[in-house]
Amino acid sequence: MKFVSSLCVIGPSVIVRLAGFQVEVSPPLSLNPDVPTHVIAVANQKGGVGKTTTAVNLAACLAAAGRRVLLFDLDPQANATSGLGLEKIEGASCYRALLDDSPLLEKIQPTAFENLQIIPSEVDLCGADIDLARAEDHLLRVQRALKPVIESGRFDVILMDCAPSLGVLTLNSFAAAHSLLVPLQCEYYALEGISMITRLLNQLRDGGINPGLKLIGVVMTMYDARTKLSQQVVSEVRQHFGELVFETTIPRTTRLAEAPSFGKPIIHYDKYSAGAAAYEVLAQELARRLDQ
Ligand SMILES: Nc1ncnc2c1ncn2[C@@H]1O[C@H](COP(=O)(O)OP(=O)(O)O)[C@@H](O)[C@H]1O
Ligand SMILES: [Mg+2]
Repeated sequence: MKFVSSLCVIGPSVIVRLAGFQVEVSPPLSLNPDVPTHVIAVANQKGGVGKTTTAVNLAACLAAAGRRVLLFDLDPQANATSGLGLEKIEGASCYRALLDDSPLLEKIQPTAFENLQIIPSEVDLCGADIDLARAEDHLLRVQRALKPVIESGRFDVILMDCAPSLGVLTLNSFAAAHSLLVPLQCEYYALEGISMITRLLNQLRDGGINPGLKLIGVVMTMYDARTKLSQQVVSEVRQHFGELVFETTIPRTTRLAEAPSFGKPIIHYDKYSAGAAAYEVLAQELARRLDQ
């Protein structure tokens, strides 16, 4: 396991913080340009496990490394939207595009960060689960809406930040995704969250809704090196999922928790923090997996 702390060389990248010196030599991030847009759902039906933090910060790190990234906020709580410094604006979400087939491309907004765009969320998405359930092809609405966005060739990666539920909107994102990325909090009940997701993954694959859907990886979040519990949970999850678990583990840090209130991803809020380093290395790991 490559746990990131403020006093270590981190994983394959080289970000060193020693006695006041900060040296950063990150290798260039590569995604195979021949591979079309990757669509990834960041999901776990449990709340508070680090989905939004992971979606926002991975999006920002990939964008900072030159990838063209779209963050698609599919959670009515709109934490990814506010985490990137955007106001929640009535009518700005994907809601109408999902229900009326109006163009989702028109919902894409720039952010303050280069290469990073967003489809924001707002409270109207609360009704989407119920409204979509009554609609025809109700599980394929996100997939259908995203098709022109993918075909536009404007993005290398689309990251969908899902709500903490397995409602219709989340199932839509699973049906539209090439892969799922599951954050697991380093806590006693971590594995509970994922058993439902893996069962659902198999159902979506076997049921023909998304036969190609795969689990791109499990990321352990809020790791606290001071507790034995964190270590035990990580080793248990690794026993279960083997190499699917990312080598990079995200530490529990105050800076990561503070950054959203400033509307900034951690690499723009505190570039040399342990949290920023962790998400930079995780983004490199993810890019390697996407290239395979
Ligand atoms: N690595 C971390 N260290 C400290 N706080 C974190 C970390 N990851 C997430 N948090 C905080 O925990 C809370 C839940 O995280 P969040 O990403 O919103 O989870 P989810 O989207 O799964 O509900 C938020 O207040 C967030 O700022
Ligand atoms: Mg969230």
